[in-house]
Amino acid sequence: MTFAPIQCSAPGKVILFGEHAVVYGQPAIAVPVTQVQATATVELAPPGNGLTLVAPDLERSISLTTAPQDDPLAVAARLTLAHLSVPPPDAVLTIHSTIPIAGGLGSGAATAAAVVRSLAIALGHPLDNESINTIVYEVEKIHHGTPSGIDNTVVTMAQPIYFVRGRPIELIAVGATFTILIGDTGVASPTKESVAYVRRQREKHPAHYDALCDQIGDLVVEARQAIEAGDPDTLGKLMDENHRLLIEMGVSSPDLNRLVTAARTSGALGAKLSGGGWGGNMIALVEEATIKRVTRALTKQGAQRVIATRLGTIS
Ligand code: PMV
Repeated sequence: MTFAPIQCSAPGKVILFGEHAVVYGQPAIAVPVTQVQATATVELAPPGNGLTLVAPDLERSISLTTAPQDDPLAVAARLTLAHLSVPPPDAVLTIHSTIPIAGGLGSGAATAAAVVRSLAIALGHPLDNESINTIVYEVEKIHHGTPSGIDNTVVTMAQPIYFVRGRPIELIAVGATFTILIGDTGVASPTKESVAYVRRQREKHPAHYDALCDQIGDLVVEARQAIEAGDPDTLGKLMDENHRLLIEMGVSSPDLNRLVTAARTSGALGAKLSGGGWGGNMIALVEEATIKRVTRALTKQGAQRVIATRLGTIS
């Protein structure tokens, strides 16, 4: 078997609306963040070498045959080979990522998507998005336990999505350019833990948590309309409201609240935590004129980094 080196990338992502409630069947909206990427490169290796997975950023190099059963990179590769019913190629698959780990930016899903896509092409059987998405969802289970499927879907599609668990994916037509600042608390917070917390709380207080999820679901529907209509003022207010409901759910943190407040008081149209919560990232909707001021305010209040991404244009 021969092939030229193959390289595929997948973007990071943020959840704009609906995290946590999406696990219980409510809609959520997520968008790709192309400023951060996972990139996989597959190169031919001498015959008999099998498949080696290399992650230089993590100082890791493992052979597929000896990799642990639950190693996410190895699981992504094994599932791809099983899906295609082919043996491992003699190749080296190298993965680089600029997506922060455990920050709610979809690093696990993007890494898996890049691995699956590049490996399938190298094997001469490119996979469609649906198959890639199905495989990446299986890998996400290792990171998240019971993921809703939103992360794998948005990074595989690399487009804004309106997502309801178990329903066909809907792409969102963005009616104007929206600028989103993503502020990183610098606190690594595994989504698995906050998802498990919400599950426990929901078991203890079902009526309260179901009501919170219903309210979030309703505002996600409105947010989609505001995105399609190109209405930033409404979108900002809905972000504020979604953050309030996430605080009530118990998944915010003092760091997140401080950054959200800093964004609002320095001129953002709205702000909220994004993803699992208790750390990771928050997002703020800003106008062009306030990008610098809000970025400065976030940095001053402790954001470890601020990424600006645009929705509705190629960014
Ligand atoms: O991967 P994160 O941290 O952006 O969070 C995923 C969103 C949750 O709704 C909290 C969990 C899920 O599986 O949808």
